[in-house]
Amino acid sequence: MSTEPARRPLRIRRARLEEADTLAPRLTELCRRSKAHWGYPQELLERWADDLRIEPADIDRDVVLLAEATDDAPGGPDLSDLLLLGFARVGVDPDTDASTGAGPRIARLHDLWVEPQVMGQGIGRTLMEAAIEVARTLPAERLRVVSDPNAEPFYERFGATRVGEEDSDIVAGRRLPILELPLSGARARLDPAESG
Ligand SMILES: CC(C)(COP(=O)(O)OP(=O)(O)OC[C@H]1O[C@@H](n2cnc3c(N)ncnc32)[C@H](O)[C@@H]1OP(=O)(O)O)[C@@H](O)C(=O)NCCC(=O)NCCS
Repeated sequence: MSTEPARRPLRIRRARLEEADTLAPRLTELCRRSKAHWGYPQELLERWADDLRIEPADIDRDVVLLAEATDDAPGGPDLSDLLLLGFARVGVDPDTDASTGAGPRIARLHDLWVEPQVMGQGIGRTLMEAAIEVARTLPAERLRVVSDPNAEPFYERFGATRVGEEDSDIVAGRRLPILELPLSGARARLDPAESG
């Protein structure tokens, strides 16, 4: 018999402006727990702590998508109070020249984090699909993410490819992959029934 926890019913909803103050610290804690699951040493996690902070202004400026469990407690006692299972944050890429409108519009996936206890249950995929839809309606032609190296194969599953690298601001010598996903072709990958 499988020991995997049952997948919980899920809804994706946009965070509301009026909940930004209470939500920001919860999202910050979620980011830090999720980052820690890659096994980085505590000393590195402490150096990243500020970088992994979500401010109310981020929720105000960008689209924040929340993955919430809609059941009460079927995940067992240790998961019963875990209702916010992950989130994504999408905005206009900061390197895009929005003032002139020159060049292609690029969306940025600033955040995508899933609670470690519920990874591997399709929540990351559901959030990524929702983030792609948001990016498309910005509108944008491509979705860019500066990825944790461990997450690169996850983004590749959605058609993202590496277009460059950038230096980590925090860890000397650490290079972060810059990935881009073309939005025009993304729908066909996500839903084979529509790919013709
Ligand atoms: C990366 C992350 C979002 C994936 O979320 P998840 O809920 O565990 O992923 P899912 O269960 O939805 O997996 C979707 C698919 O991606 C695959 N996948 C998930 N994580 C993967 C990884 N690290 N490498 C390769 N494939 C991966 C799954 O096998 C699954 O494939 P399938 O659809 O063919 O079965 C999650 O591991 C996470 O939050 N990581 C820490 C935070 C982080 O580093 N985020 C990125 C910041 S740039």
